[in-house]
Amino acid sequence: MIKFVSESVESTVDFGEKYAKTLEKGDVVLLFGEMGAGKTAFTKGVAKGLGISAEVTSPTYAYMNDYGGVLYHFDCYRLSSGEDAEGLGLTDYFYAGGICIIEWPQNIASALPENRKRVTIIKTGENSREIIAED
Ligand SMILES: Nc1ncnc2c1ncn2[C@@H]1O[C@H](COP(=O)(O)OP(=O)(O)O)[C@@H](O)[C@H]1O
Ligand SMILES: [Mg+2]
Repeated sequence: MIKFVSESVESTVDFGEKYAKTLEKGDVVLLFGEMGAGKTAFTKGVAKGLGISAEVTSPTYAYMNDYGGVLYHFDCYRLSSGEDAEGLGLTDYFYAGGICIIEWPQNIASALPENRKRVTIIKTGENSREIIAED
């Protein structure tokens, strides 16, 4: 388990960039944290660390953004079950060989694969966050 204290959005992006170096193809990362915690900011850093130059934007309305098959970034905020995720064809990407980062994974709990890592971002102040990464 790694605990990191971030005092700025840039610091969260930097931590995401370093965290990306610990990931391997096919890894599934469950990304927990309230709205505005910094999940998407963290994912921007992960994309950077994976050498992705495209801008990472929140997939809230699209559910999933595909960054060249290297990174799949999910936002399941608007889903309410694992069946929803399966019906939309989202679960196929868990086994496609890219790295998956999933915001609001608890909304699709029954559809999540067995092997996954966890990152939790806790808002501890206006600009401060505690980030916990677990295997
Ligand atoms: N230390 C920090 N780490 C990440 N975001 C921060 C931090 N401090 C302030 N923020 C702000 O919090 C918001 C996080 O937004 P976002 O990454 O979209 O959150 P989420 O995806 O968890 O809803 C941004 O407006 C960002 O500027
Ligand atoms: Mg987000």
